[in-house]
Amino acid sequence: MIIAVDGPTASGKGTIAKALAAHFGLPHLDTGLLYRAVGRQVELNGGNPDNPADALAACDFSDELLSDEILRSEHVGGLASRVSIHPAVREALYQRQRAFALQPGGAVLDGRDIGTIIAPEAPVKLYVTASVQERARRRWLEMTGREIDIPLAEIERDIVARDARDINRADAPLRAAPDALVIDTTHFGRDAAVEAAIEAVRTLTGR
Ligand code: DC
Repeated sequence: MIIAVDGPTASGKGTIAKALAAHFGLPHLDTGLLYRAVGRQVELNGGNPDNPADALAACDFSDELLSDEILRSEHVGGLASRVSIHPAVREALYQRQRAFALQPGGAVLDGRDIGTIIAPEAPVKLYVTASVQERARRRWLEMTGREIDIPLAEIERDIVARDARDINRADAPLRAAPDALVIDTTHFGRDAAVEAAIEAVRTLTGR
């Protein structure tokens, strides 16, 4: 059983994907982390994330980098969004994601193009979204909790810019698959959103 979870930044898709994996006993891949590793590796190489050759060269990052906490920063998220525009980068990361999706027991993957490109045959496709204001508020709360002082308006601006880049790129843009079930978490708490997702998987698969 492949479960594809797509959606914009801070929509709650990662939380939902993790919870589904735990509930149904499936392995989980946060595919954004792969793009973040490429973005960070470009920086470590002293390259330019907007240059396709520099971005492609950074695709041979070491697995060790994937556990570096710095990948979770807003800064690296922005670099990830920039390198993810290049078709060569998407192609270089394709096999790894595809192989993960095809594990015999099934898998949960979250990202931007899982239901459209990586695993279009997935029987469960969820598109998790929320208003820009609510996503900015969540990110702000999370950062304030980590004692990072950043104005809400600045976070909102960053989210709008990242959405625009992810939605408007030519190759594999952020988009709900035509048969995806949309879960809008704007007015949902964490538990209600997870419960709705579990219910959706049960309905779609009979599990
Ligand atoms: O989900 P995230 O914030 O960790 O993703 C970071 C960036 O990586 C996102 O802005 C676009 C890119 N990305 C992508 O293009 N395709 C994916 N499947 C996952 C992430």
